[in-house]
Amino acid sequence: MEKKIRQLLEDAKRFEADSPEAVEAFRIAYLGKKGHLNALFADFKSVPADKKKETGQQINTLKQFVTGKVEEMKSALSASSGADAIPDMTVPGKSMPVGARHPISIVRNQIIGIFTRLGYNISEGPEIEDDWHVFSALNFPPEHPARDMQDTFFIEKDPDVLLRTHTSSVQVRVMENTQPPIRTISPGIVFRNEAISARAHCIFHQVEGLYIDENVSFADLKQTLMYFAKEMFGGETETRFRPSFFPFTEPSAEMDISCRICGGKGCNICKYTGWLEILGCGMVHPNVLEHSDIDSRKYTGFAFGMGIERITMLRYEVKDLRLYFENDARFLEQFSAAF
Ligand code: DAH
Repeated sequence: MEKKIRQLLEDAKRFEADSPEAVEAFRIAYLGKKGHLNALFADFKSVPADKKKETGQQINTLKQFVTGKVEEMKSALSASSGADAIPDMTVPGKSMPVGARHPISIVRNQIIGIFTRLGYNISEGPEIEDDWHVFSALNFPPEHPARDMQDTFFIEKDPDVLLRTHTSSVQVRVMENTQPPIRTISPGIVFRNEAISARAHCIFHQVEGLYIDENVSFADLKQTLMYFAKEMFGGETETRFRPSFFPFTEPSAEMDISCRICGGKGCNICKYTGWLEILGCGMVHPNVLEHSDIDSRKYTGFAFGMGIERITMLRYEVKDLRLYFENDARFLEQFSAAF
Protein backbone atom coordinates (compact mmCIF):
# COMPACT_ATOMS: atom_id res chain seq x y z
CA MET A 1 0.00 0.00 0.00
CA GLU A 2 2.86 2.33 0.79
CA LYS A 3 4.13 1.84 -2.71
CA LYS A 4 0.76 2.75 -4.15
CA ILE A 5 0.58 5.93 -2.07
CA ARG A 6 4.08 6.93 -3.19
CA GLN A 7 3.13 6.30 -6.81
CA LEU A 8 -0.02 8.41 -6.53
CA LEU A 9 1.99 11.23 -4.95
CA GLU A 10 4.54 11.08 -7.78
CA ASP A 11 1.76 11.16 -10.37
CA ALA A 12 0.11 14.14 -8.64
CA LYS A 13 3.40 16.05 -8.56
CA ARG A 14 4.01 15.49 -12.25
CA PHE A 15 0.48 16.40 -13.28
CA GLU A 16 0.07 19.64 -15.27
CA ALA A 17 -3.27 21.19 -16.25
CA ASP A 18 -3.86 23.53 -19.18
CA SER A 19 -7.55 24.12 -18.62
CA PRO A 20 -10.06 24.40 -15.76
CA GLU A 21 -11.64 21.14 -17.02
CA ALA A 22 -8.33 19.29 -16.60
CA VAL A 23 -8.02 20.61 -13.02
CA GLU A 24 -11.53 19.41 -12.23
CA ALA A 25 -10.83 15.96 -13.69
CA PHE A 26 -7.69 15.75 -11.55
CA ARG A 27 -9.61 16.77 -8.43
CA ILE A 28 -12.31 14.15 -9.07
CA ALA A 29 -9.71 11.45 -9.75
CA TYR A 30 -8.09 12.05 -6.37
CA LEU A 31 -10.68 13.64 -4.10
CA GLY A 32 -13.98 12.52 -5.64
CA LYS A 33 -16.30 9.97 -4.07
CA LYS A 34 -14.81 7.14 -6.08
CA GLY A 35 -11.37 8.73 -6.17
CA HIS A 36 -7.98 7.42 -5.09
CA LEU A 37 -8.13 8.86 -1.58
CA ASN A 38 -11.46 7.30 -0.66
CA ALA A 39 -10.13 4.01 -2.03
CA LEU A 40 -7.05 4.36 0.17
CA PHE A 41 -9.17 5.16 3.22
CA ALA A 42 -11.25 2.04 2.51
CA ASP A 43 -8.11 -0.11 2.29
CA PHE A 44 -6.77 1.49 5.45
CA LYS A 45 -8.89 -0.96 7.54
CA SER A 46 -6.72 -3.82 6.43
CA VAL A 47 -3.44 -2.16 7.35
CA PRO A 48 -1.76 -3.97 10.28
CA ALA A 49 -2.09 -2.07 13.57
CA ASP A 50 1.62 -1.34 13.87
CA LYS A 51 1.69 0.32 10.46
CA LYS A 52 -1.53 2.29 10.84
CA LYS A 53 0.10 5.45 12.17
CA GLU A 54 2.70 5.70 9.42
CA THR A 55 0.33 4.80 6.59
CA GLY A 56 -2.29 7.20 7.92
CA GLN A 57 0.24 10.03 7.81
CA GLN A 58 1.22 9.16 4.23
CA ILE A 59 -2.41 9.20 3.09
CA ASN A 60 -2.91 12.58 4.80
CA THR A 61 0.20 14.00 3.17
CA LEU A 62 -1.10 12.90 -0.22
CA LYS A 63 -4.52 14.43 0.50
CA GLN A 64 -3.04 17.74 1.61
CA PHE A 65 -0.73 17.85 -1.38
CA VAL A 66 -3.54 17.19 -3.85
CA THR A 67 -5.91 19.70 -2.20
CA GLY A 68 -3.20 22.39 -2.27
CA LYS A 69 -2.26 21.61 -5.86
CA VAL A 70 -5.89 21.86 -7.05
CA GLU A 71 -6.20 25.36 -5.53
CA GLU A 72 -2.84 26.41 -6.96
CA MET A 73 -3.71 25.24 -10.46
CA LYS A 74 -7.12 26.95 -10.33
CA SER A 75 -5.69 30.32 -9.37
CA ALA A 76 -2.85 30.07 -11.89
CA LEU A 77 -5.34 29.46 -14.71
CA SER A 78 -7.72 32.27 -13.74
CA ALA A 79 -4.84 34.76 -13.43
CA SER A 80 -3.61 34.00 -16.91
CA SER A 81 -7.07 34.54 -18.40
CA GLY A 82 -7.94 37.56 -16.25
CA ALA A 83 -7.34 41.29 -16.48
CA ASP A 84 -3.78 41.07 -15.15
CA ALA A 85 -2.72 38.90 -18.06
CA ILE A 86 -0.21 40.46 -20.46
CA PRO A 87 -2.22 41.45 -23.55
CA ASP A 88 -1.40 39.84 -26.86
CA MET A 89 0.06 42.72 -28.86
CA THR A 90 -0.30 40.86 -32.13
CA VAL A 91 -4.12 40.71 -32.02
CA PRO A 92 -5.54 43.04 -34.74
CA GLY A 93 -7.15 46.18 -33.28
CA LYS A 94 -10.89 46.71 -33.15
CA SER A 95 -11.93 49.25 -35.76
CA MET A 96 -14.03 52.15 -34.49
CA PRO A 97 -16.91 53.26 -36.71
CA VAL A 98 -15.95 56.54 -38.41
CA GLY A 99 -18.41 59.38 -37.94
CA ALA A 100 -19.02 62.12 -40.47
CA ARG A 101 -19.50 65.85 -40.27
CA HIS A 102 -22.76 67.18 -41.62
CA PRO A 103 -22.27 68.50 -45.18
CA ILE A 104 -23.56 71.91 -44.09
CA SER A 105 -20.88 72.04 -41.38
CA ILE A 106 -18.20 70.96 -43.86
CA VAL A 107 -19.09 73.74 -46.29
CA ARG A 108 -19.59 76.33 -43.54
CA ASN A 109 -16.09 75.54 -42.25
CA GLN A 110 -14.65 75.84 -45.75
CA ILE A 111 -16.28 79.25 -46.22
CA ILE A 112 -14.98 80.38 -42.83
CA GLY A 113 -11.50 79.10 -43.75
CA ILE A 114 -11.40 81.10 -47.00
CA PHE A 115 -12.48 84.38 -45.41
CA THR A 116 -10.34 84.05 -42.28
CA ARG A 117 -7.34 83.68 -44.59
CA LEU A 118 -8.36 87.07 -46.03
CA GLY A 119 -8.33 88.60 -42.54
CA TYR A 120 -12.05 88.42 -41.74
CA ASN A 121 -13.19 87.63 -38.21
CA ILE A 122 -16.34 85.73 -37.27
CA SER A 123 -19.33 87.36 -35.61
CA GLU A 124 -22.61 85.96 -34.42
CA GLY A 125 -25.95 87.41 -33.45
CA PRO A 126 -29.25 86.21 -31.98
CA GLU A 127 -31.68 84.04 -33.97
CA ILE A 128 -34.64 85.72 -32.23
CA GLU A 129 -34.49 89.31 -33.35
CA ASP A 130 -36.42 92.57 -33.46
CA ASP A 131 -37.71 94.55 -36.41
CA TRP A 132 -34.89 97.09 -36.20
CA HIS A 133 -32.00 94.67 -36.74
CA VAL A 134 -33.69 92.52 -39.40
CA PHE A 135 -35.50 95.22 -41.39
CA SER A 136 -35.53 98.88 -40.35
CA ALA A 137 -31.81 99.43 -39.83
CA LEU A 138 -31.24 97.68 -43.17
CA ASN A 139 -33.33 100.26 -44.99
CA PHE A 140 -36.38 98.08 -45.64
CA PRO A 141 -39.34 100.41 -46.32
CA PRO A 142 -42.37 99.89 -44.03
CA GLU A 143 -44.41 98.27 -46.81
CA HIS A 144 -41.73 95.79 -47.89
CA PRO A 145 -43.25 92.30 -48.43
CA ALA A 146 -40.58 90.59 -46.26
CA ARG A 147 -42.20 92.24 -43.28
CA ASP A 148 -45.38 90.28 -44.01
CA MET A 149 -46.50 87.35 -41.85
CA GLN A 150 -46.41 85.32 -45.07
CA ASP A 151 -42.64 85.50 -45.19
CA THR A 152 -41.51 86.01 -41.62
CA PHE A 153 -42.18 84.03 -38.45
CA PHE A 154 -43.32 86.52 -35.83
CA ILE A 155 -43.20 85.60 -32.17
CA GLU A 156 -44.87 88.83 -31.05
CA LYS A 157 -46.29 91.90 -32.76
CA ASP A 158 -45.88 95.44 -31.45
CA PRO A 159 -43.13 95.56 -30.55
CA ASP A 160 -42.07 93.01 -33.12
CA VAL A 161 -40.19 89.93 -31.99
CA LEU A 162 -39.36 87.59 -34.86
CA LEU A 163 -37.07 84.87 -36.15
CA ARG A 164 -34.39 86.44 -38.31
CA THR A 165 -34.97 85.90 -42.02
CA HIS A 166 -31.36 86.57 -42.94
CA THR A 167 -27.95 86.94 -41.26
CA SER A 168 -27.75 90.55 -42.51
CA SER A 169 -29.09 91.42 -39.04
CA VAL A 170 -25.63 90.54 -37.65
CA GLN A 171 -24.13 93.31 -39.86
CA VAL A 172 -26.20 95.82 -37.95
CA ARG A 173 -25.16 94.42 -34.59
CA VAL A 174 -21.48 94.51 -35.55
CA MET A 175 -21.72 98.10 -36.87
CA GLU A 176 -23.48 99.19 -33.65
CA ASN A 177 -20.59 97.93 -31.57
CA THR A 178 -17.52 98.48 -33.74
CA GLN A 179 -16.06 101.41 -35.61
CA PRO A 180 -14.38 100.70 -39.00
CA PRO A 181 -12.26 99.10 -40.22
CA ILE A 182 -14.67 96.15 -40.08
CA ARG A 183 -14.01 92.87 -41.83
CA THR A 184 -16.35 90.14 -40.60
CA ILE A 185 -18.37 87.13 -41.67
CA SER A 186 -21.45 85.90 -39.84
CA PRO A 187 -22.50 82.29 -40.38
CA GLY A 188 -25.82 81.25 -38.91
CA ILE A 189 -29.27 79.77 -39.17
CA VAL A 190 -32.22 81.70 -40.59
CA PHE A 191 -35.99 81.15 -40.78
CA ARG A 192 -38.61 81.87 -43.40
CA ASN A 193 -42.26 81.05 -43.55
CA GLU A 194 -42.05 78.74 -46.58
CA ALA A 195 -43.74 75.45 -47.40
CA ILE A 196 -41.12 72.70 -47.27
CA SER A 197 -40.21 71.14 -50.60
CA ALA A 198 -37.11 69.89 -52.43
CA ARG A 199 -36.24 73.49 -53.31
CA ALA A 200 -37.38 75.46 -50.25
CA HIS A 201 -37.20 75.02 -46.49
CA CYS A 202 -38.33 77.09 -43.55
CA ILE A 203 -34.92 76.72 -41.87
CA PHE A 204 -31.61 77.18 -43.65
CA HIS A 205 -28.14 78.62 -43.22
CA GLN A 206 -26.45 81.72 -44.50
CA VAL A 207 -23.08 83.41 -44.30
CA GLU A 208 -23.11 87.19 -44.29
CA GLY A 209 -19.99 89.20 -45.08
CA LEU A 210 -19.20 92.84 -44.33
CA TYR A 211 -16.16 94.97 -45.15
CA ILE A 212 -16.10 98.65 -44.17
CA ASP A 213 -13.13 100.99 -44.36
CA GLU A 214 -12.02 104.17 -46.10
CA ASN A 215 -11.92 103.93 -49.91
CA VAL A 216 -13.54 100.50 -50.24
CA SER A 217 -14.79 100.17 -53.82
CA PHE A 218 -16.87 97.86 -55.96
CA ALA A 219 -13.58 96.59 -57.44
CA ASP A 220 -12.61 95.34 -53.95
CA LEU A 221 -15.96 93.57 -53.71
CA LYS A 222 -15.47 91.87 -57.08
CA GLN A 223 -11.91 90.84 -56.36
CA THR A 224 -12.83 89.37 -52.96
CA LEU A 225 -15.77 87.39 -54.27
CA MET A 226 -13.91 86.17 -57.36
CA TYR A 227 -11.17 84.90 -55.06
CA PHE A 228 -13.79 83.20 -52.90
CA ALA A 229 -15.38 81.47 -55.92
CA LYS A 230 -12.05 80.11 -57.14
CA GLU A 231 -11.08 78.87 -53.66
CA MET A 232 -14.45 77.24 -53.14
CA PHE A 233 -15.13 75.75 -56.56
CA GLY A 234 -11.69 75.49 -58.18
CA GLY A 235 -9.26 77.78 -60.00
CA GLU A 236 -10.92 77.41 -63.40
CA THR A 237 -14.23 78.83 -62.08
CA GLU A 238 -15.52 81.92 -63.92
CA THR A 239 -17.69 84.55 -62.24
CA ARG A 240 -20.14 87.14 -63.51
CA PHE A 241 -22.03 89.91 -61.73
CA ARG A 242 -25.62 90.82 -62.61
CA PRO A 243 -27.32 94.02 -61.39
CA SER A 244 -29.89 93.36 -58.68
CA PHE A 245 -31.74 95.09 -55.88
CA PHE A 246 -31.49 94.87 -52.08
CA PRO A 247 -32.70 97.70 -49.80
CA PHE A 248 -29.44 97.68 -47.81
CA THR A 249 -26.98 97.94 -50.73
CA GLU A 250 -26.55 100.40 -53.59
CA PRO A 251 -25.53 99.37 -56.18
CA SER A 252 -26.53 95.74 -55.68
CA ALA A 253 -25.56 92.65 -57.64
CA GLU A 254 -25.88 88.90 -57.76
CA MET A 255 -22.88 86.77 -58.52
CA ASP A 256 -23.02 83.68 -60.74
CA ILE A 257 -20.32 81.07 -61.23
CA SER A 258 -19.77 79.06 -64.39
CA CYS A 259 -21.57 75.73 -64.18
CA ARG A 260 -19.18 73.09 -62.85
CA ILE A 261 -21.20 70.22 -64.19
CA CYS A 262 -21.19 71.12 -67.89
CA GLY A 263 -18.30 73.62 -67.81
CA GLY A 264 -20.60 76.32 -69.19
CA LYS A 265 -22.01 74.36 -72.14
CA GLY A 266 -25.47 74.06 -70.62
CA CYS A 267 -27.10 71.22 -68.65
CA ASN A 268 -30.14 70.63 -66.48
CA ILE A 269 -28.30 71.79 -63.30
CA CYS A 270 -27.72 75.30 -64.75
CA LYS A 271 -31.02 75.15 -66.68
CA TYR A 272 -29.02 75.35 -69.93
CA THR A 273 -27.63 78.82 -69.13
CA GLY A 274 -24.07 77.74 -68.20
CA TRP A 275 -24.28 79.85 -65.02
CA LEU A 276 -25.32 79.26 -61.39
CA GLU A 277 -26.30 82.02 -58.97
CA ILE A 278 -24.44 81.76 -55.66
CA LEU A 279 -24.79 85.01 -53.74
CA GLY A 280 -26.14 88.52 -53.38
CA CYS A 281 -23.88 91.50 -52.74
CA GLY A 282 -23.45 95.24 -53.05
CA MET A 283 -22.02 98.44 -51.63
CA VAL A 284 -23.47 99.14 -48.17
CA HIS A 285 -26.21 101.77 -48.49
CA PRO A 286 -25.25 105.09 -46.83
CA ASN A 287 -28.51 104.96 -44.81
CA VAL A 288 -27.41 101.66 -43.29
CA LEU A 289 -24.06 103.14 -42.23
CA GLU A 290 -25.74 106.20 -40.76
CA HIS A 291 -28.28 104.09 -38.84
CA SER A 292 -25.34 102.64 -36.94
CA ASP A 293 -23.53 105.97 -36.51
CA ILE A 294 -20.86 105.29 -39.10
CA ASP A 295 -19.89 108.38 -41.11
CA SER A 296 -20.93 107.58 -44.69
CA ARG A 297 -18.80 110.43 -46.10
CA LYS A 298 -15.66 108.93 -44.61
CA TYR A 299 -16.37 105.23 -44.92
CA THR A 300 -17.67 102.95 -47.62
CA GLY A 301 -18.07 99.21 -47.60
CA PHE A 302 -19.43 96.15 -49.27
CA ALA A 303 -21.62 93.32 -48.05
CA PHE A 304 -22.57 89.92 -49.36
CA GLY A 305 -24.80 87.07 -48.33
CA MET A 306 -24.90 83.46 -49.44
CA GLY A 307 -26.95 80.37 -48.61
CA ILE A 308 -24.85 77.48 -47.29
CA GLU A 309 -27.37 74.89 -48.54
CA ARG A 310 -27.11 76.38 -52.04
CA ILE A 311 -23.28 76.21 -52.03
CA THR A 312 -23.40 72.68 -50.60
CA MET A 313 -25.87 71.64 -53.30
CA LEU A 314 -23.46 72.84 -55.98
CA ARG A 315 -20.41 71.26 -54.33
CA TYR A 316 -21.94 67.86 -53.69
CA GLU A 317 -24.81 67.82 -56.18
CA VAL A 318 -27.45 67.11 -53.56
CA LYS A 319 -30.59 68.59 -55.03
CA ASP A 320 -33.23 67.89 -52.39
CA LEU A 321 -32.97 70.39 -49.51
CA ARG A 322 -34.93 68.13 -47.18
CA LEU A 323 -32.04 65.65 -47.04
CA TYR A 324 -30.00 68.18 -45.05
CA PHE A 325 -32.52 68.14 -42.21
CA GLU A 326 -33.58 64.51 -41.99
CA ASN A 327 -30.43 63.18 -40.31
CA ASP A 328 -30.60 59.96 -42.27
CA ALA A 329 -27.33 58.18 -41.51
CA ARG A 330 -27.24 56.66 -45.01
CA PHE A 331 -27.01 60.19 -46.43
CA LEU A 332 -24.67 61.62 -43.79
CA GLU A 333 -22.15 58.77 -43.82
CA GLN A 334 -21.36 59.53 -47.46
CA PHE A 335 -19.49 62.60 -46.20
CA SER A 336 -17.09 60.73 -43.88
CA ALA A 337 -14.15 61.33 -46.22
CA ALA A 338 -14.64 65.12 -46.17
CA PHE A 339 -13.76 67.36 -43.24
N1 DAH B 1 -29.82 89.11 -47.00
C1 DAH B 1 -29.96 88.68 -48.37
C2 DAH B 1 -30.91 87.50 -48.41
O1 DAH B 1 -31.19 86.91 -47.42
C3 DAH B 1 -28.64 88.25 -48.94
C4 DAH B 1 -27.74 89.40 -49.16
C5 DAH B 1 -27.77 90.09 -50.37
C6 DAH B 1 -26.91 89.86 -48.16
C7 DAH B 1 -26.95 91.16 -50.60
C8 DAH B 1 -26.07 90.95 -48.38
C9 DAH B 1 -26.12 91.61 -49.61
O2 DAH B 1 -25.24 91.43 -47.46
O3 DAH B 1 -25.30 92.66 -49.81
O4 DAH B 1 -31.38 87.17 -49.48
